[in-house]
Amino acid sequence: MWLSFLRYCILIFGVLTVIRWVLRKKWGSVDKTNEIKSKGKIVLITGANTGIGKATALEFAKRDANIILACRDLEKAREAVVWIRQKTTLGQLICMQLDLSSLQSVRNFCKEFRSKYDRLDILINNAGLMVPTYSYDRQKTADGHEVHFGVNHLGHFLLTNLLLEPLKASAPSRVVTLSSMAHSWGTIDFDDLNCEKTKIKGTLLINPLYSNSKLANALFSKELSKRLQGTGIRTYALCPGMVMTDFGRNMKGPMIWVLSIISPIIQFLLKSPKEGAATVLYCSLSKNLINESGEMYQNCGKWDPNSRIQLKDEDAKRLWEESAKLVGL
Ligand SMILES: NC(=O)c1ccc[n+]([C@@H]2O[C@H](COP(=O)([O-])OP(=O)(O)OC[C@H]3O[C@@H](n4cnc5c(N)ncnc54)[C@H](OP(=O)(O)O)[C@@H]3O)[C@@H](O)[C@H]2O)c1
Repeated sequence: MWLSFLRYCILIFGVLTVIRWVLRKKWGSVDKTNEIKSKGKIVLITGANTGIGKATALEFAKRDANIILACRDLEKAREAVVWIRQKTTLGQLICMQLDLSSLQSVRNFCKEFRSKYDRLDILINNAGLMVPTYSYDRQKTADGHEVHFGVNHLGHFLLTNLLLEPLKASAPSRVVTLSSMAHSWGTIDFDDLNCEKTKIKGTLLINPLYSNSKLANALFSKELSKRLQGTGIRTYALCPGMVMTDFGRNMKGPMIWVLSIISPIIQFLLKSPKEGAATVLYCSLSKNLINESGEMYQNCGKWDPNSRIQLKDEDAKRLWEESAKLVGL
C-alpha cells in the first residue's frame, strides 16, 4: 500500500514539474542585455512593501537605481528595505508615505515628492487590492468612492497627473500600470462609476468590482498615452500573471482553509513575486518598447489583442474626463 502511495506521489510530482516547466517557457524572462541603463534613475513604486512591488524594488536596487517605496504603512516599507538590503547593497531606497484610499494623502505625497525631486524616470502604479466577493461589504475610500475603483484607479489617476512635470523633466520616461487579465471581465458603467447599483455577482474569488477597476487601469494607460504624445513620456499597462503574493489577504472563512490545503500545489503552478515582476521590468526598461506607448503586455511581451477585451477610445476618453471631475482636477 505504501509503495503504491509513493508511486502516486512521484507521478503527481512529475506531472506538476512538467507543467511548471511548460509554464515557465510561456512566462518569458527578463533580458538584461536589452535594457536601458537604470543606474541612478529615479523610480517610484506604489505598494512596494510586499508582493510584486517589493520584488520589483529589489530588481531595481540590484540595477543601482534610486527607488522610492511609496507605501501606506511606513513600518512595513522599512521592513521591505531591510529585506532588500540583505540581498544587495546597491541602489538607494527611500520610504515615503502614500495612502491611495485618500486623495488628500496622494496630494500630500506629491507635494513632498516635488519638494525633494524635480525628476522622475519611471513611475510604477503597482499597489492594488481586491476584497473577495463573499466578504465584500461595499467598502469605501476616505473620499466616499467604491474601494476598488478609488484605490486601484482614482488614487493612481491623481498621483500620475500630479507627477507629470517631473516625468516630463526626465523624458524619455515611463509610466507602468499594473492591470490584470481580470480587466477583460470588467465593465465601466458611466452612470454608476462607484458601482453603487451594480449587483455583486462575481466568481468565488474574483470580485467583479476588482475587474472593473483593472479595466479602468487599462483605459487610463491608453488615454494617458494619447494625452502625452510628443512629451517623451511613454505608458504601458500589463498583467503580471497569477502570482503567489499576499493578494488573498482579505479572504476569510472556509476559503482560507481550502486554499491552505491546496497551497503546495498552487505554489508550484503560480509565478513567484520575482517572476511576477519580470513583465514590470520589461515595460520599465526594455529597449524594444522605446517607440511604443499605450499598449498592453504580459509574459515579457506584447499582449495579443485578440486574447483580451478591446479597449475603446471613447470609453478611455470619457473615463478620463469623469475621473478628473471626481478627483477635482
Ligand atoms: N498577484 C496576482 O496574481 C496579480 C494578478 C494580476 C494583477 N495583479 C496586480 O498586481 C499588483 C500588485 O499585486 P500583489 O499581488 O503584489 O499584491 P499584494 O501582495 O497584496 O500587494 C499590494 C500592495 O498594494 C498596497 N496597497 C493596498 N492598498 C493600498 C492603499 N490604499 N494605498 C497604498 N498602497 C496600498 C499594499 O499595501 P499593504 O501591505 O499596506 O496592504 C501592498 O503593498 C496589484 O495592482 C494587482 O491588482 C496581481
